[in-house]
Amino acid sequence: MPSMEEMIGRADLNDVEAILSITNTDVHAVEHVVKDEADAIFTWDYSLARPALRKLYEKAKAGQWNGETDLDWSIEVDQEKVAEENRLNATSLGALSDPAHYADSPVASWTDKEWTEFGIQSQNWTLSQFLHGEQGALLCTAKIVETVPWYDAKLYASTQVVDEARHVEVFAKYLNEKLSGHYPINAHLRELLDDIIRDTRWDMTYLGMQIMVEGLALAAFGFMHQLTSEPLLKKLLRYVMSDEARHVAFGVLSLKEVYDGMTAAEIRERQEFAFEAAVRMRDRFLQQEVWERMGVSPKEILPFTLTDKSRLPFQQSLFSKIVPNCKKLGLLDGADGWLRQKFTEIGVIQFEDWVDTGEEYGAFALDAERETA
Ligand SMILES: [Fe+2]
Ligand SMILES: [Fe+2]
Repeated sequence: MPSMEEMIGRADLNDVEAILSITNTDVHAVEHVVKDEADAIFTWDYSLARPALRKLYEKAKAGQWNGETDLDWSIEVDQEKVAEENRLNATSLGALSDPAHYADSPVASWTDKEWTEFGIQSQNWTLSQFLHGEQGALLCTAKIVETVPWYDAKLYASTQVVDEARHVEVFAKYLNEKLSGHYPINAHLRELLDDIIRDTRWDMTYLGMQIMVEGLALAAFGFMHQLTSEPLLKKLLRYVMSDEARHVAFGVLSLKEVYDGMTAAEIRERQEFAFEAAVRMRDRFLQQEVWERMGVSPKEILPFTLTDKSRLPFQQSLFSKIVPNCKKLGLLDGADGWLRQKFTEIGVIQFEDWVDTGEEYGAFALDAERETA
């Protein structure tokens, strides 16, 4: 049984030095190569063996949209105003930090001007990470088309490749035309994407991408959609979420069948993979690169952000899709409930009975909105 240290490289979840030791050193590289050693599988069984996946495939075909024509790119974005509005909205959503907690920190003397600049950088960073994550999804789904042994899943995954291409396209365009700078991929996110691509087992690509990365993305997009009143980004996120909800459903529907037949030892490996992914995603949200750009040493500020209780509900809510989906897959309680214990330790178990995404995608569909538009 691997220890916490062997799994995530540190014994203490909040070990700042260990978290910061993972940095992105090739920030100017144009390419990043990962060896993908998985088998490409043909199937000659073209029968309708999995109607739920076929239904999702039909939904995907009907749910396509065009990033160029369905979004109004003529909308002008005043990023400073957006940052200020976001701060106000975050206060009303209970997601803004308590200044008293930072009284002895490097940001204690920050004025509104610095906080607005921080908001702008934070948005540049967040959208940049969304963009890189979307490319990760594009590569992973292309891999799933090859590696999943089921015909219905190959058909569905092909629609997701198109969806992810569209997401990369719209996030890149929004960053280029409406925001004020790019950030390279966060090292924790890159390590996670590398692990997912590198794994030879097809179900691990599903688990890493469809359940963990996309589950977190769906929650993060939902939060930003709620936070922002900028109309172009709001609509863009709404459209992307309609696709992402299907993607997470694809993972849940496919893996349920696979995991129901697994031994406790096999389930345990999946639980460890899921937990490692959860920790990497948690680390990436510390946005160390934004602090650096603001001239604040991450080493000095992270002890404050890691213990900032006012931000806990936001950080935890990022797991509001992942935990119920893991429960539905039997990953929480399988293998003696190892993952239940870990999710309890990182403070996210309270979401276990929230609605899972196996069925929820209907609620995110665009049909209703299009009919009234
Ligand atoms: Fe996506
Ligand atoms: Fe996706």
